[in-house]
Amino acid sequence: MDRIHSSCDTEVWEGDLPLPRETLLQKVRDVEGLVCLLTDRIDAELMNKAPRLRVISNYAVGFDNINLEEATRRGIIVGNTPDVLTETTADFTFALMLAAARRLLEGERNVKAGVWKTWGPMILQGQDVHGATLGIIGLGRIGTAVARRAQGFGMKTLYTNPTRRKSLESELGLHYRDFHTLLGESDFITIHVNLSPKTYHLIGKKELEKMKSTCILVNTSRGQVVDNMALYEALRNRRIAYAGLDVTDPEPIHINHPLLTLDNVIITPHIASASVATRTKMAMMAAENLIAGLKGELPPHPVNPEVLKNADA
Ligand code: DGY
Repeated sequence: MDRIHSSCDTEVWEGDLPLPRETLLQKVRDVEGLVCLLTDRIDAELMNKAPRLRVISNYAVGFDNINLEEATRRGIIVGNTPDVLTETTADFTFALMLAAARRLLEGERNVKAGVWKTWGPMILQGQDVHGATLGIIGLGRIGTAVARRAQGFGMKTLYTNPTRRKSLESELGLHYRDFHTLLGESDFITIHVNLSPKTYHLIGKKELEKMKSTCILVNTSRGQVVDNMALYEALRNRRIAYAGLDVTDPEPIHINHPLLTLDNVIITPHIASASVATRTKMAMMAAENLIAGLKGELPPHPVNPEVLKNADA
């Protein structure tokens, strides 16, 4: 915030909850730059209300909350916060995998509720992570960082991706599989794709039916990639064993959502990148993207650099 305040006149929404839509639409009337969160929908309607807008700086690596095509068409540059959250998010993916596999939260709940009476051979038996087969859907930055960690756990790691990444295959000992084969062969499946019309409900009833009954599904990407109701049915019927979700659809998940009644799901509040160090780096990147954009320069992390290249031409 100091960096931004020293560069431009600023209005800050101090509320803990996102700006009500009407307030946001009103506030953007005269702005030239916008720093927004993934909870803010930045669409054509908003851009219509903000005729002076030149830069949108998203405090996130994902930018599915922004209508990028519309921004690009209007010559508005968009920035995001890649790379700095990769390792932190991969750490958290493993936290969910381990917690689900070893039934960590069930154990913790039992202890706190006084249910635990004695050590017992059958109590809360889970699954081993080491030596298991991990399937990674989406071998981008975060998927690759997860694959690196899987090496340390001695996992056999499969991946599926729109393009094969042969140098990573040999560097990390990865095995390429088509999407459906990966679903059937993996003990753990972790999702690392962007949300787009192509990935909306990528995992639904049909895909869950292909998974092993012992499979553990982890999602730290976007909630809409998984059909939550299909997942609920699959977990309830033990079609798959467990899920670890840092993201849901919607967010927050409704308190009466049936998923919350199950013991075999862990749901966290979209915190995979939430370490102090990473969130601080993301903030600095968002500030630098904004400031460069306001100056008419290419932000350090542009999503649609063609906007300024076209303007130069
Ligand atoms: C992102 O950056 O897209 C994450 O979901 C939040 O850090």
